[in-house]
Amino acid sequence: MSILVTGGAGFIGSNFVLDWVKQSDETVINLDVLSYAGNLENLKTLDGDARHVFVKGDICDRALLDRLLAEHRPRAIVHFAAESHVDRSIHGPAAFVRTNIEGTFTLLEAARAYWGALQGEEKAGFRFHHVSTDEVYGSLKKDDAPFTETNPYEPNSPYSASKAASDHLVRAWHHTYGLPVLTSNCSNNYGPYHFPEKLIPLMIVNALAGKPLPVYGDGQQIRDWLYVTDHASAIRAVIAGGRVGEVYNIGGWNEMANIDIVKTVCALLDELRPSAAGPYERLITYVTDRPGHDRRYAIDARKIERELGWRPAETFQTGIRKTVQWYLDNPDWVARVQSGAYRDWLNKHYG
Ligand code: NAD
Ligand code: DAU
Repeated sequence: MSILVTGGAGFIGSNFVLDWVKQSDETVINLDVLSYAGNLENLKTLDGDARHVFVKGDICDRALLDRLLAEHRPRAIVHFAAESHVDRSIHGPAAFVRTNIEGTFTLLEAARAYWGALQGEEKAGFRFHHVSTDEVYGSLKKDDAPFTETNPYEPNSPYSASKAASDHLVRAWHHTYGLPVLTSNCSNNYGPYHFPEKLIPLMIVNALAGKPLPVYGDGQQIRDWLYVTDHASAIRAVIAGGRVGEVYNIGGWNEMANIDIVKTVCALLDELRPSAAGPYERLITYVTDRPGHDRRYAIDARKIERELGWRPAETFQTGIRKTVQWYLDNPDWVARVQSGAYRDWLNKHYG
């Protein structure tokens, strides 16, 4: 038995693959184009392990998808591959339309052809799991109830609009063609192997380098943070027991303002790697806000708990400590992802 994972060399995908092989004998076929965000080093502990088959390739390549599905006959597809960074989507939305919309369309069509030709139990058991985001629901006001699975879609950035479009395609492929799909919409993840363009790893890496910690606007925007291995376990639960055609919201029950996240990271660094120059909070710098910045996200994760018994294992306190420690323990990983392309992005975006 095997599963096909797309985007398995990225942040969440690689954590999912590492977790999968810990608790299953099934082979993972990992299809990833290795964009700036894809990093095979995340998976180096699997070198020589026959349960991980890496294929460098694009989800927009239909011939490649057909070949992989025919060769490996996976029982499920878990679709992570995407352009994932909101700020990059503001600077250059075309890549988001291509990978997130066109790529998901191409994968759905390949999956439909493959699944359509399966028989009996193989056909009945097949699942297409689409990994999506809470950002498709738009922005909440301070006292609004958290997002449920029936919230209307109100995406506000090119990134969230492209993810919303992909969610709609997935839904339609189920309703029109019967493809056995599952969709999960998750809140902000954090943890090991998080590319340092996103808030938490950027703050850790900049603080350690004595660089400014750029906080957008007033820093009071709220996100709901989930430790990445909890996202992996939630997806496993949905694939195993989720009802076909259903959507499951995944979240950490942990809403925090950005400025409090940054201060928590600073306090942990003060404890674990104190700086001779003084507390890391001295580096906090308020900068121009992100255009169209969503004010608040919050996830109501009661459906996945009620139906599948899933709850996060980590609290923010345990998860953020592990995360900061991981970055302190892995300076070589950080140094290697800070390529020329990464430096160009920082210069372009932060000036
Ligand atoms: P990431 O940017 O770290 O990784 C994306 C991966 O997809 C990379 O390995 C990249 O090489 C690969 N990829 C990009 N374009 C591809 C293509 N055309 N063909 C094949 N592979 C391609 O992203 P992430 O943070 O790990 O997010 C993974 C998924 O989870 C995305 O779909 C994202 O929308 C969703 N999500 C992310 C979060 C979060 O907090 N990071 C939260 C909820 C949902
Ligand atoms: O909610 C789920 C989403 O979370 C995922 O779908 C996205 O793929 C993922 O990137 C993340 O999106 P955000 O935009 O919330 O994450 P980011 O880390 O870019 O920003 C988190 C918050 O921190 C956001 O309010 C913007 C703010 N921020 C971010 C950066 C990079 C800053 O204040 N300063 C920064 O330098």
